[in-house]
Amino acid sequence: MISGKNIVLGVTGSIAAYKAAEIASQLTQAGAKVNVIMTKAATEFITPLTFRSLTGRPVVTEMFDITSEMSVEHVALAQAADIVVIAPATANIIAKIAAGIADDMLCGTVLATKGPVIIAPAMNVNMYENPVTQENLSKLRARGFTIVGPASGWLACGETGMGRLADIDEIIGTIRQVLGRKGDLAGKRIVVTAGGTQEPLDPVRHISNRSSGKMGYALAEAARDRGAQVVLITAPTTLPKPVRTEVINVGTAQEMYEVIVIKKAVAQADALIMAAAVADYRPAKVSESKIKKVTDTLTMELERTPDILGTVEGSFIKVGFAAESENLIANARAKLLQKGLDLIVANDITAPDSGMGADTNQVVIIDRDGKVDELPLLPKREVADRVLDKVVELLNKR
Ligand SMILES: Cc1cc2nc3c(=O)[nH]c(=O)nc-3n(C[C@H](O)[C@H](O)[C@H](O)COP(=O)(O)O)c2cc1C
Repeated sequence: MISGKNIVLGVTGSIAAYKAAEIASQLTQAGAKVNVIMTKAATEFITPLTFRSLTGRPVVTEMFDITSEMSVEHVALAQAADIVVIAPATANIIAKIAAGIADDMLCGTVLATKGPVIIAPAMNVNMYENPVTQENLSKLRARGFTIVGPASGWLACGETGMGRLADIDEIIGTIRQVLGRKGDLAGKRIVVTAGGTQEPLDPVRHISNRSSGKMGYALAEAARDRGAQVVLITAPTTLPKPVRTEVINVGTAQEMYEVIVIKKAVAQADALIMAAAVADYRPAKVSESKIKKVTDTLTMELERTPDILGTVEGSFIKVGFAAESENLIANARAKLLQKGLDLIVANDITAPDSGMGADTNQVVIIDRDGKVDELPLLPKREVADRVLDKVVELLNKR
């Protein structure tokens, strides 16, 4: 989504201006052409040289500097921009944009662009909570601007409260989502499950599996970046929540079943992609107190968990995952038929660098017609996009 895009990054006179250097760096590394516009106040906090070095491009600081190649046409950057991002955005620039003022290159560019605009406010808590700032932000929201953050926490002025610049990951994730709004999943609702369920034995122990959640989270982010509205139903993982997706946390297979089948989280969905490693069995009895170390051996009875994929009903595309250690294709095909899936993504969990916990995955995608697509070892994000290509194909056939 970001590669090849023309991004205007506006930096204003906030103490958080130094954080914009990381944003410029990450966007440049992701392949964007980043044109930084700094307000005069921003140059008091961080030098244009920093952005010049990180982006490899000239930095605009003046509207009337005839020596700068960028100032030839005062609306040139606005016209070329795929997106304008102001991070950090001061109370002052927010007020100026809300009022339609164009007395510097940054607010002039915002006024002249037809592209989407993201604003990441950063300021003192009282400045943020001041009704005039709130009114200005409401005006911008109503006009279609995307506001990210601010976050709550310690502020440079010594106070604690709302006003910290949103996390860089949240800002970058929002840029991806806004750029992807017109993607091939625009207007679609995709439900993704992820992570390994945890089935309790007693108050402090559980049975689980090695699923990291990386494949499901990659699917959720990839679907978001292609324009989908994403619901991620996740068992516990250590991963950060994907930005701008709806996240529902569950612990056990039963809880996942209740969210999907009973509460019908998939009722309006166009596709359900079950990448979670849901336990097949759980302890038949959960001890109310901690099981003590008193005997040499301990036998425990397990019972089947509910079959989510087998029972969920609806007209959405159903995609399952099969983690297999033998007879990969035959077992996956059997699961596809047995559970009435449209697609199954099978991975050989014994292969190196593939399957649970890895950042890469080698999978075979099998469809209902028996077509088998064997993919090479790829980063999970790329696997996610290849799976979504198939989902888009199926959705387009409907
Ligand atoms: C040390 C210092 C830190 C500041 N931090 C912020 C801030 O985080 N947010 C904000 O809205 N203004 C902050 N200001 C005030 C702005 O710099 C001031 O309103 C300026 O006119 C903003 O100009 P600009 O919006 O054109 O960048 C700060 C000022 C100083 C001296």
